[in-house]
Amino acid sequence: MKFTVLTIFPEMIASFREHGIIRRAVEGKKISVAALNLRDFATDRHQVTDDRPYGGGSGMIMKPEPVAGAIRAAAKAMPAARKILLTPRGRVFNQDVARELAACEGLILVCGRYEGVDERICQELIDDDVSIGDYILTGGELAAMVIIEAVARLIPGTLGAADAAENDSFSDGLLEHAHYTRPPVFEGQPVPKVLLSGHHRQIEDWRLESSLMQTLLKRPELLEGRDLNSREREILEKWSTAIRRILEAYSRRK
Ligand code: ADE
Repeated sequence: MKFTVLTIFPEMIASFREHGIIRRAVEGKKISVAALNLRDFATDRHQVTDDRPYGGGSGMIMKPEPVAGAIRAAAKAMPAARKILLTPRGRVFNQDVARELAACEGLILVCGRYEGVDERICQELIDDDVSIGDYILTGGELAAMVIIEAVARLIPGTLGAADAAENDSFSDGLLEHAHYTRPPVFEGQPVPKVLLSGHHRQIEDWRLESSLMQTLLKRPELLEGRDLNSREREILEKWSTAIRRILEAYSRRK
């Protein structure tokens, strides 16, 4: 998978490429991460990439010529790539969108700055608008890095442990189970016994219960829309019975 980021801050992307799984994936040739400097595509002597908005108002707008030039240069090198504009107006990125993008041959990620990009670029040269959440950043660079990281993890061979991405939160619609490492007791709090038992089936069962618990407490809406399997139904019914007993015992005492 090839990622090309179009930005006025290519150093941000260069530094991102130098660390962790992204670096390993680039070195292992599973992905490539390149940045094109929008200034190099400016058409004036001073390499200006922004200008005042027509109609007045505050803030600056990214000029169309450098953005168009950079998109065309990137698309020439990878014609099948999807051209994505990072913008708070886009559809909101999540694990399903990450999976969808991981199936593309390449991604050209256009980072806006200032108030936004000239609308003619959005209409003519962009395939997809993506936001990383309902908040405003000063530019699309952080959004581009978030997307690259989430998509790269889904490319086979980018993660050390073969199945690590499959176990991630959201990969099967539940949040991940709780994790523990040594020491066995930390500040008086022990690790759940079953995890030290070596019983793989019991550990898997505990992890499923922990996943359901995390999801119920933190993202209950994920469970409401879920096709529960029989084991998940059993666990939820067990809790439901336990909660009913507590409430009945309480009412009897009153
Ligand atoms: N640029 C500014 N804010 C953004 C956001 N939330 N997502 C993607 N790109 C952005």
